[in-house]
Amino acid sequence: MRTEILPVDEKSLRLAKRIIEGGGAVAFPTETVYGLGANAFDNKAVENVFAIKGRPNDNPLIVHVHKDYDLSALVTDIPEYAKALAKAYLPGPLTMVYKSKGKVCPAVSCGLDTLAVRVPSHADAQKFLKYLNLPIAAPSANISKHVSPVTAEHVLSDIDGRIELILDGGKCSGGIESTVLDCTGEKPQILRSGLITREMIEAVAGSCGEYVLKEGEKARSPGMKYKHYSPACKTMLFSFEQYGEAVEEYNKSRSQGVNAYILCDGKTAELINVDHVLNLGKTGEQIASNLYEKLREGERRADLIIAIAPEEQGGVMKGVMNRLIKACGN
Ligand code: TXA
Ligand code: MG
Repeated sequence: MRTEILPVDEKSLRLAKRIIEGGGAVAFPTETVYGLGANAFDNKAVENVFAIKGRPNDNPLIVHVHKDYDLSALVTDIPEYAKALAKAYLPGPLTMVYKSKGKVCPAVSCGLDTLAVRVPSHADAQKFLKYLNLPIAAPSANISKHVSPVTAEHVLSDIDGRIELILDGGKCSGGIESTVLDCTGEKPQILRSGLITREMIEAVAGSCGEYVLKEGEKARSPGMKYKHYSPACKTMLFSFEQYGEAVEEYNKSRSQGVNAYILCDGKTAELINVDHVLNLGKTGEQIASNLYEKLREGERRADLIIAIAPEEQGGVMKGVMNRLIKACGN
């Protein structure tokens, strides 16, 4: 199968509709990462998305809908705090998990009685979802366990020949996946941190829990138990305080002929001043936005990525650190 990359316009949307209605999958941009979408009412199409990615079949998908979609068609028991959060942050990088009405096909939630719903803010994602007027089940458009894609070229390099169409909306500005928030309880609980931070959720909902997977416990958000976001080269991770050791490791590797790069934020890059750096930028938002692009650049250029965690740890950095540990930690 030939994979085409097309800008989002009337012609490509028509093609996307034909593919999705025919049971196929289309990659599309969102403000976080690219998604690989299929009709959420078509069980075969959704199963095919798992197959294309090589995704374990107990890790459920998020359903994406346009901003005027009537959520009550798909889910029930929407609490007041969730309505307030939706008003404050949607469309945007916040995925909310509700009790499912069981209308979408069973493969989407892998048999769970809940459904994760997301209303992306990316203009092209909105156009795509509006044009189809269907709930679109979509994981990130990477091969399972690899770094999530933030450009159409990243999608192509992972799944070239396995889908017909990649809608190109440029580089995703957010850079890390949406915050996944369980809205089935008395208060919201973060299942995956992201660009909508705990502080932002608490500011609207009053309080907010955070789910931490304990040893031996069945994962609430099954995605938590899998290795993720890994570049295809060796990696190491050092805390900011250990930056001296990271530089030692870099020098040692280089002297042994290993093509090592240091992945760090702009402030650390100035401090350590080495030749081969993957610079993530300065603010939390820049670091999130550049993380996957730099990990992919790193795996192309380096034998070894030596990551140094940024010194700042508040807000968006929680989500960044979660990805950095999964990508480069042991
Ligand atoms: O930003 C994003 O969320 C991107 C873009 C494409 O929208 N999508 C994305 O999908 O990251 P994926 O499949 O890579 O991650 C979905 C996460 C997984 O951790 C999964 O376990 C969790 O959402 N999830 C999905 N349905 C769930 C449910 N019913 N209950 C709990 N967790 C759920
Ligand atoms: Mg993913």
